[in-house]
Amino acid sequence: MEPLRVDVPLGDRSYAIHIAPGLLAETGNLLRGVIQRGRALVIADERVAKLHGKALMRSLEQAGIGAALATFPSGEVHKCLAEADLLWRRCAEEHIERGDTIIAFGGGVSGDLAGFVASAWMRGVRFVQIPTTLLAMVDSSVGGKTGVNSPAGKNLIGAFKQPGCVIIDPSLVATMDAREYRSGLAEVLKYGVIRDPAFFAWQEQHAQELADADPAAVAYAVAQSCRIKAIYVGEDEFEKGVRAHLNYGHTFGHALERETEYRQYLHGEAVGIGMRMAECLARSLGMLRDQDLARRQDALIDAYRLPRAHPCADPSALARRLADHCRLDKKVAAGRTRFVLPMRLGQVTVRESPDPQLVIEAFRSGLTSSVT
Ligand code: GLY
Repeated sequence: MEPLRVDVPLGDRSYAIHIAPGLLAETGNLLRGVIQRGRALVIADERVAKLHGKALMRSLEQAGIGAALATFPSGEVHKCLAEADLLWRRCAEEHIERGDTIIAFGGGVSGDLAGFVASAWMRGVRFVQIPTTLLAMVDSSVGGKTGVNSPAGKNLIGAFKQPGCVIIDPSLVATMDAREYRSGLAEVLKYGVIRDPAFFAWQEQHAQELADADPAAVAYAVAQSCRIKAIYVGEDEFEKGVRAHLNYGHTFGHALERETEYRQYLHGEAVGIGMRMAECLARSLGMLRDQDLARRQDALIDAYRLPRAHPCADPSALARRLADHCRLDKKVAAGRTRFVLPMRLGQVTVRESPDPQLVIEAFRSGLTSSVT
């Protein structure tokens, strides 16, 4: 099967996203054009290295690309400066130079960490993304956001570092934990709501196949998601405007993740609940012109087996606390909170500092009393 190609249009820094089941084995051939000279350092978390490391290294070797593998322990806690420092030391040991390439191999953590390492090593070396999770395939591997967490907050230290290319083998999702896979579907759903009603309708028709990770459905959903993401990145690389639309559901979701100390929800699960809250806020502000959006969005959230609401003992008190967390969100600009809100299926807009009482009500709509 000929790989599908989506281009991210960034002038002389434009790059291709190659997508096809089985593409991992073709990585070396695809990278011949990107890594014309020099060596590569593959950065992968231990789990991914164990599952797929041999296949990747074999493919690079067969294409005549000299490469070393650097691993780090799996998990979000390792997306930190200390781990980046260990990887920079490894770059030194491997004599990674200006003309060499760092390859991020894994999920969002590997992409963010390896991209950050690549952005700073020797003031920036070439970088390639090979995502292995659904979330990384449809979102984080495209667009150049890289970084690490710190005690000051999540993703507060980072850099924009566009990859030279992205290689996606959607069949790799078969090795994902089922819950983590479904969490990635929330981002797929998001693209339909923010930009593409036809893609949303396609998801409604193929929701079961997607929930079950049917390979053809996954490959199509990944390609469509990348196509939409590439448009936003091409239009607004540094998120000065329209790229913020990709944060639909995220401001609410981040508050929930923060409140639950990043332990209870996977990112996509919190975003799914956040999208419902955003829809509620848009409705109460009189912005929503599509009365069917809530029903259709809820139906897909259910079909993807994502949680719709967060149970708690005191929804009113928690809603107020979550609204407070929003003021600390890094998307806050000049003290104004910013929410991405739907107007109709396929169209969203950013609303700054809406009535705080309505924000609390929106949070409240996504909380259920655990006391029966
Ligand atoms: N994940 C949202 C963005 O890349 O802008």
